[in-house]
Amino acid sequence: MAGTFETVGVVGLGTMGAGIAEVFARAGLAVIGVEADPAALERGRGHLEGSTGRALARGRLTEAERAEILGRVSFTTSLEDLADADLVIEAIPEVMDYKRALFTDLDRVCKPSAVLATNTSSLSVTAIAATTTRPGRVIGMHFFNPAPVMKLVEVVRTVTTDDGLAGEVADLARRLGKTPVTVGDRAGFVVNRLLLPYLNHAAVLLENGLAGRDDIDAAMKLGAGFPMGPFALLDLIGLDTSHEICEVLFRETRDPRHAPAPILRELVTAGLLGRKSGQGFHCAEEPQSPSSEEKPSAASVAVLGEGAEEFAARLSGAGFKIVGTEDAELVVALSRTPVVERAVGLPHPDRLVGLHLVGDQVAEVASTVLTSPETARIAVGLLRILGRTPVPCKDRAEFVVDALLYPYLNDAVRMYESGYASVEDIDTAMKLGCGYPAGPFETLDRLGLETVRDGLRALYAEYREPSFAPAPLLDQLVTAGMRSIRDLPS
Ligand code: 3HC
Repeated sequence: MAGTFETVGVVGLGTMGAGIAEVFARAGLAVIGVEADPAALERGRGHLEGSTGRALARGRLTEAERAEILGRVSFTTSLEDLADADLVIEAIPEVMDYKRALFTDLDRVCKPSAVLATNTSSLSVTAIAATTTRPGRVIGMHFFNPAPVMKLVEVVRTVTTDDGLAGEVADLARRLGKTPVTVGDRAGFVVNRLLLPYLNHAAVLLENGLAGRDDIDAAMKLGAGFPMGPFALLDLIGLDTSHEICEVLFRETRDPRHAPAPILRELVTAGLLGRKSGQGFHCAEEPQSPSSEEKPSAASVAVLGEGAEEFAARLSGAGFKIVGTEDAELVVALSRTPVVERAVGLPHPDRLVGLHLVGDQVAEVASTVLTSPETARIAVGLLRILGRTPVPCKDRAEFVVDALLYPYLNDAVRMYESGYASVEDIDTAMKLGCGYPAGPFETLDRLGLETVRDGLRALYAEYREPSFAPAPLLDQLVTAGMRSIRDLPS
């Protein structure tokens, strides 16, 4: 059936639209690219030429293949040129009034059998479909940035979508070399509903001074194995788009965690939109992280907490002298939880830091309100010597990586519990949509359901944020002694 789609229209040739046009053209379909005016059309053509030019330079396309791909794309500023298209996908800005006006026009211009698709990241596909006389032929086809690279397409069907159309569009996605996941019409669908609250949470933690921008990015890349840190990804997605998705999520859920972080609004208002404007959380000129120059001057270290003996042995092997807390220049408390209580019992509370080793690359270094800046500096340098990336942070529940990871995993459990998507679809969507090494349920199994449940309890106890409370299903799985959500009887 997907073979019936031979000519497609792409309306809006910004980053996403141009990427989508490239994907269709690479799969051999004829593409009509539409933009509002000649200048925007030229920019769109530029995106396509740039992207295929990079592929040519890297030897992933030959000159002939590139010419063939570009030859399949025609450019126009007239919607009327879409009269014969089999499918039209829109990738214009995320403003409902623009989308509704466009779909009214497309409905008038396009042949009755044509499918009208939207690449909206979170707006209601049902509301868009309702502006046409063919709601049964309207569907969501949601690509991920960069569209030529990310393998996922979310196919979003509404209550009015014709039976079988989602299957046809899913087949088309496969023909493009993508993996489709078909879901219903809820704000954010699967990926943005799980991704944006995490990114927004990172922005809130940055504003609260939990840790620095580059340190949080490094923690999530090296500690959680994500391909990009949250601020690099926000810049890639675009801060205006991210802000808008959070607004839409908040309007549907009224969950305070979905309300855009104030810093997002401020950056957007200032025109700092991320990569598309050249500056966002990250600037073109990256400032050097101040901690990267630190070298430790302490020789004598005391180690406390679970695993202290083994860690002390490694320090000793690296030339540090292991002493008691009375004589230590630095006291390291290995801990998954805040350490200020330990500090108050010490002869020199200013010399203690909390240390949480995450995977084999990251070490979160928690300073309490009593820790001296000199102590934190020494600890950071010591960890570099041990070959770990230090992530200096405040002494707060679950520090950085787990504080960001656990609520995301909890959201995935809630999503499954609500019946919106299956465990397999959620895992597939997050791996192929965001390039994560594992889906949330695979990550839950690896970390242990009880560890995550207890971490969520600690986060809830500290921040009193209702959505940090463990999902009832997670709690029940732990109580029942189950090791994986997949053990639930089907
Ligand atoms: N266009 C085309 N190709 C691109 C590209 C682009 N903009 N950016 C990177 N690539 C290609 C490169 O050419 C390279 O291909 P090759 O291996 O065949 O040479 C490949 O992708 C890897 O690129 P790099 O080596 O330059 O860089 P990385 O290995 O760091 O990968 C990345 C870059 C693919 C962007 C990776 O960091 C990643 O997967 N990041 C996560 C992105 C993500 O989460 N996207 C989803 C955002 S949410 C969304 O889009 C929904 C929306 O509604 C908001």
